[in-house]
Amino acid sequence: MTTTVLVFHPRMDASRVNARLARAAEDAAAAGADVQVRRLYELYPDFRIDVEAEKRVLEAADRIVLQFPMYWYSCPPLVKQWEDDVLEHGWAYGSTGTALHGKELALAVSPGAPAANYDHEGSFHYTVTDLLRPFQATSNLIGTRFLKPFVTTGTLTLSDADLEAQAAAYAAWLTDADLEELGTFE
Ligand SMILES: Cc1cc2nc3c(=O)[nH]c(=O)nc-3n(C[C@H](O)[C@H](O)[C@H](O)COP(=O)(O)O)c2cc1C
Repeated sequence: MTTTVLVFHPRMDASRVNARLARAAEDAAAAGADVQVRRLYELYPDFRIDVEAEKRVLEAADRIVLQFPMYWYSCPPLVKQWEDDVLEHGWAYGSTGTALHGKELALAVSPGAPAANYDHEGSFHYTVTDLLRPFQATSNLIGTRFLKPFVTTGTLTLSDADLEAQAAAYAAWLTDADLEELGTFE
């Protein structure tokens, strides 16, 4: 199973959490796991995405992971640009758009606020999963299997020890062939 991790962080040089998670994925690859990591902001600092190259990347993957910090209860802007540009009609969706059918799509997202805020009874009122529904709807449209996300909450207060544990969990998650799908109303 080939896993491709697309990392979207506008300031990777200043990142603590996503930089550590990306390194965990790269370490897994160096240890022989079939994982590749692409840092999209470094590849496309001007937002001019090489659409054909990125389509070939997705075609070669069995599991596509979009990794990003949560920004404004959503994603950094290059994620949206990537969706707009790469998930073309006639290729990713539409009557002839079957290129990604049957592949797995998953998100690895890191909100800065603690998990307790992301609860229907919490101060933000919405769960992280609620906020990720547009990606699940997109997954439905492009025929991928949308997996339960890998969420690292509370990044702004995460201890070094907890970050190390999360990095190890991420490497295991990326290479786990039996990840569960997220239910439509789960
Ligand atoms: C522009 C911006 C918007 C953010 N919006 C949110 C948000 O909506 N919810 C949240 O929990 N954290 C938010 N954060 C905090 C980031 O999610 C947090 O800094 C990030 O997960 C840390 O990961 P890093 O060390 O890889 O940068 C935001 C941060 C920035 C810079």
